[in-house]
Amino acid sequence: LVLEILRGNLCIPEWPRFTSKMTELFEECRKITDGQVASYIPQLARADPNLWGMSICSVDGQRYHYGDSKAEFCIQSLSKTFNYAIVATDIGADKLHGYVGHEPSGRLFNEICLDAQGKPHNPMINSGAIVTSSLIRLGRPLSDRFDFIISEYRKLSGGLHVGFNNATFLSERDTADRNYAISHYMKEYSCFPKGIASLREELDLYFQLCSLECCCETLSVMAATLANGGINPLTQQRAISAQACRDVLSLMYSCGMYDLSGKFAFQVGLPAKSGVSGGMIVVVPNVMGMCLFSPRLDKTGNSTRGVSFCMVKTRIGSFHNY
Ligand code: DON
Repeated sequence: LVLEILRGNLCIPEWPRFTSKMTELFEECRKITDGQVASYIPQLARADPNLWGMSICSVDGQRYHYGDSKAEFCIQSLSKTFNYAIVATDIGADKLHGYVGHEPSGRLFNEICLDAQGKPHNPMINSGAIVTSSLIRLGRPLSDRFDFIISEYRKLSGGLHVGFNNATFLSERDTADRNYAISHYMKEYSCFPKGIASLREELDLYFQLCSLECCCETLSVMAATLANGGINPLTQQRAISAQACRDVLSLMYSCGMYDLSGKFAFQVGLPAKSGVSGGMIVVVPNVMGMCLFSPRLDKTGNSTRGVSFCMVKTRIGSFHNY
């Protein structure tokens, strides 16, 4: 990094100017108090609505944190992004997409529906994510599968802390009628690969992955790994194959923001993924990864401040022109 600085070769050369612009905008967005904390899982309903954090990591490993960037939160649907990338790296996109489609569903993230081929529409909604996580080390004991995924998450984060919130897991499992219904429906239509564990166990794994806990600082490095073609910018270790990285960015771009995905792609033009806990990752390919966190959600289930930040940012200039 020092050599690159001396050579003036960094992808964001005017770092102080860039980060101060981002901070200004961040403080602007703090004024937004619209939106409600997710209430359908008791542990989420208890989140502090005023938390607001931001972290940036460039593909050169430059990092910037501001606000509540160290506040830990359960990653919820952000896990769908990483799970997909890990499974696609492990078994290949062709095999994975034998079970899951590529199209935006145009429906709510937890709807009970399949596409015209009888597959879940894409891996970024619950149905597709449940099938995707069933492909993680198929046939192995749940403990080994969880261990495998955590060690892959740590490659993505460069060893930064990835925790697990058991209370969220239990609370999520207790209020999961919809996810059980989706899974039974998919079982009826033979959507799962042969050799899966019981639906109960498969859903436990899915809930456990939603209950992994990180802060913006960690997630920005994971997002930067996706910006960097799958190679962690801090450790230079490959975490995700180049193809899986490209594929996950395409899916984030078309399907990552629930029912706002089309408008977000149109206005912001960047791959992003949100989760109901209020976390959001944004990737500027070949430049940087970013994580924003604010638990107040709009009607589409996206973080109000997070979405506004990105929309305003692109209105006043793209992420890499400041
Ligand atoms: O499956 C659920 O209901 C949630 N734990 C999923 C969380 C989420 O962020 C929804 N996203 N697509």
